[in-house]
Amino acid sequence: HLARPIDAPLAGKKAVVTAGPTREALDPVRYISNHSSGRQGYAIASALSRLGADVTLVSGPTSLPQPAGLNFVQVETAIEMLDAVKSGLPSDIFVSVAAVADWRPAEPSDVKIKAKTTKKGMGSITLVENPDILKTISHMSEDRPKLVIGFAAETNDVEDHAQGKLERKGCDWIVANDVSGDVMGGAENEIAIVKRDGIERLPRMSKAFVAQNLAKRIAESFKD
Ligand code: CTP
Ligand code: CA
Repeated sequence: HLARPIDAPLAGKKAVVTAGPTREALDPVRYISNHSSGRQGYAIASALSRLGADVTLVSGPTSLPQPAGLNFVQVETAIEMLDAVKSGLPSDIFVSVAAVADWRPAEPSDVKIKAKTTKKGMGSITLVENPDILKTISHMSEDRPKLVIGFAAETNDVEDHAQGKLERKGCDWIVANDVSGDVMGGAENEIAIVKRDGIERLPRMSKAFVAQNLAKRIAESFKD
């Protein structure tokens, strides 16, 4: 059993964190998904927990071990992830780190689609939009967490895109993440925390330190 942290500024606060990719079935053996190791989201969930928060980690499929000391909910699809997040409310903090698939196959097949379905070769897949979990939670009238944080993985014009997402999603902070290098799946991250009143740029550091830094700022925002 873990010792109770002496410095627990988030004691009594609840946090819901999403992490990893979602997986959207095409048929029983195939799916569409995003690249996401889940490492940054898991690190954030753990860092919030170490500061005393009661954390629910809603995770898509990853190969990471389940972190100790928090509520862990395993999901597969974006729709399941949204349901699990809602079940975790009310909560003081929501951090949306998951790489949610933007679309899902409109009509997943119950049986395996054969490789040669038509004479012409490959057919086409009709996709429908998935719910936007971050936007949905940001716009809740009842039970909206006090602090809603999104992530934006961008390859270019990182801060401009992040500013746009802050407005479109209606969240409080966007953690802008430069993925132009070899960040995806790696151990390090370079982030900027974008708020309505300014941007804080952090140097490149390990995902564990990124998580610690973010958790510390979250705790500070609850001080007043
Ligand atoms: N997000 C979400 N649900 C979705 C899509 C995204 O909750 N269906 C969240 C992500 O967890 C992240 C933020 O929204 O916190 C930004 O995700 P991103 O993919 O960068 O934004 P999109 O609006 O999907 O824009 P695009 O993929 O076109 O860049
Ligand atoms: Ca997206």
